[in-house]
Formats: sequence, C-alpha cells, structure tokens
Amino acid sequence: MDSEKGPDYNEEVEVVRDILEGWEGEKNLIAILLSVQDHIGYLPEEGMMEIARYLDASETTIYGVATFYNQFRFIPPGKNHVEVCMGTACHVKRGEIVLDSWKRRIGIGEGEVTEDREFSLERVNCVGCCVLAPVTVINGEVHGQMDPTKVDGILLRHELAKEAEEREKEVSGSRIEECGEE
Ligand code: FES
Repeated sequence: MDSEKGPDYNEEVEVVRDILEGWEGEKNLIAILLSVQDHIGYLPEEGMMEIARYLDASETTIYGVATFYNQFRFIPPGKNHVEVCMGTACHVKRGEIVLDSWKRRIGIGEGEVTEDREFSLERVNCVGCCVLAPVTVINGEVHGQMDPTKVDGILLRHELAKEAEEREKEVSGSRIEECGEE
C-alpha cells in the first residue's frame, strides 16, 4: 500500500526493496549492490539509504564499500553504455588506444555521461572474450578487435540509425496529422 511507503518512495526504491526481500535477511552487501546495479543500471542515492536501513549500517559504510570497487556507478548510465575492457589481454592489445578514441570521439571521460545522455563511458575488467581483444561492450553487445577506425564506424552507424529514427518519427507524425485533417 502506498501509505506504507516512506516519503522517499520512488520506483527505484521499490526495486531495491524487492531485491532486499530476495536476500531474506542475508547480509551480503556486495551481492546486493551488484543486483541493484543490474536491475537499475546504477546505485541511486535513495536505494543506498534503503540498503543501509536494511543492513542496519550507516550510509557512510555502504558508500565506503561501494566506492572501493570501481564497477559500481552512482549516476544513471547513458542510453548507450560503452564499456571498454582493460583486462590483461585487452591491455596488451593496446586497449588504452581504444579507450582514448572513445573519450575523444564522444567527448567524455571514464565514469561520465554525455550531456544529451546518449553515451556513458566506463573502463571495465575482463569481460570474458579475450580472444577478441581489445574489446568494447555496448549495451551488452560485444565488439572485438577494436581500433580507432572501428570506434568511428560504430559512431557513424549510430548517427545514421538516429537520423533514420528521426525521419521515421517525422513521417509517422505527418501521417497522423493528415489523418486528423480528413
Ligand atoms: S581482457 Fe578483455 S576480454 Fe578478457
């Protein structure tokens, strides 16, 4: 019931509460944080407060643990979340050059989101596709043997897909208008 929900209730908090219930009292903070990030895409502040309440710990303790591990995000990811692998195999195959290319092309640093929220960028550890090194994962899709040209290619395809989507919207918008005129 809504009246049972606290003043800071929102959809994300509800997701966190569901996850916490799933743990049935087990106090495994890292697993809980991972699960929240998997479901929501990042660790929202209200969610962190909820976890602290549940574990009867201070928020400082919860943030202390979460910030220790660099896989946790505290801001919502962009529409296209770009993860550049910096595991050993990718590092050896010059993954740093790929990471620099992403930074320069989309104009943000690691852990940041573009102003239009179209892209976010993250450095990650081995994603388990070492034979394809150096690897970039975008919204879960693996792109192997990356180099600056491939970064350009992905961005160009993204731009073209966006333009096509815009055109499609305009066409369907004008169709609706035409139908309304009849
Ligand atoms: S080190 Fe990059 S996929 Fe394994």
